Amino acid sequence: MAFVRNNWYPAGFASRMGEGLHKRRMLGEDLVIWQQADGSFAALQDRCPHRFLPLSMGCLERDTIRCGYHGMTFAADGRCVRIPGQPTIPPSARVRSYPVELNLGLVWVWMGDPALASRELLFDLPEYHEAGWHPVDGEALEVEANYLALADNLCDPAHVAFVHLSTLGNAAHEDVPIETKVEGELIVTTRWTIDAEPIPLFQKFGSFKGNIDRWQIYNYHAPSIAVIDFGGADTGTGAREGRLHDGAIRILACHFICPVDEARSIDYWLHVDNFPSDAATRARMNEQFALAFAEDKAILEAIQVEETKLGGRQRPLRLGIDKGAVLMRKTVERMIEAERSVMAAE
Ligand code: FES
Ligand SMILES: [Fe+2]
Repeated sequence: MAFVRNNWYPAGFASRMGEGLHKRRMLGEDLVIWQQADGSFAALQDRCPHRFLPLSMGCLERDTIRCGYHGMTFAADGRCVRIPGQPTIPPSARVRSYPVELNLGLVWVWMGDPALASRELLFDLPEYHEAGWHPVDGEALEVEANYLALADNLCDPAHVAFVHLSTLGNAAHEDVPIETKVEGELIVTTRWTIDAEPIPLFQKFGSFKGNIDRWQIYNYHAPSIAVIDFGGADTGTGAREGRLHDGAIRILACHFICPVDEARSIDYWLHVDNFPSDAATRARMNEQFALAFAEDKAILEAIQVEETKLGGRQRPLRLGIDKGAVLMRKTVERMIEAERSVMAAE
């Protein structure tokens, strides 16, 4: 399987990557990432061109990285700036460097053609920066599954009624229809459950007196980003028409996926909410999310084991609820194909 390469992929929460060298595997390539004195981040291929020792086993010398074997030293742009014991540096003494940007509290690495990298292509979530909204970093959830299996799950409001019964789901929405639409590289899968009991998360953190109208809007930005807009409001108060009363809950649950390789992924998740809450409440809410995402991880890893056993001999049965996931996969395939044909033409 190929990946969409001309894309920004998350490498970690910036606040947790301040010190030292960070080894990352992304799209099957090994990288070493570090923060420079000016606060920006640098990423190099994690392999010294001399005898191939991973550079992450070396050390930082101000803004350069020194190999731990014979001391070749590289700048953030991949150029060798020192070869101990030898005054001349051959032009071939360099390592691949990757463009890096910061946004939404995450470090993003451009895995494709560096000439095509631009900040305009970085994903943004306006609410993250707006007053009245609270961004709360989550965790780096490692999943032993291909990233598209994780993506399937993030185009799939239906599983919530069966998998996340202690947090995000209840039986009330089991049979409620799901709508799907595509706009370019965005796949939107929506379920509105009207006049139903609040889910456990809203019972813990909300102040609803009775039944609610509940929305789950799964926005999947192919190839690897999901923003799940979900919430609830007192039933009959017009949430579906866009009116949210005080005390309504709206949460944007964000999943930024890094495909580690064919069989592993990391889901950097965080949430942004807009109801009055303190840091302790938000941390408790993240505990609930962590619980729910661990349930997804268990399911996706078990599925990966079965898929490996099957080795492609059986195709999964397609149901009506799969429309979003099918469209997502088609979109990703189309993006990969577009990159392939550009490369072939060159
Ligand atoms: S392996 Fe890096 S300098 Fe020798
Ligand atoms: Fe889930």
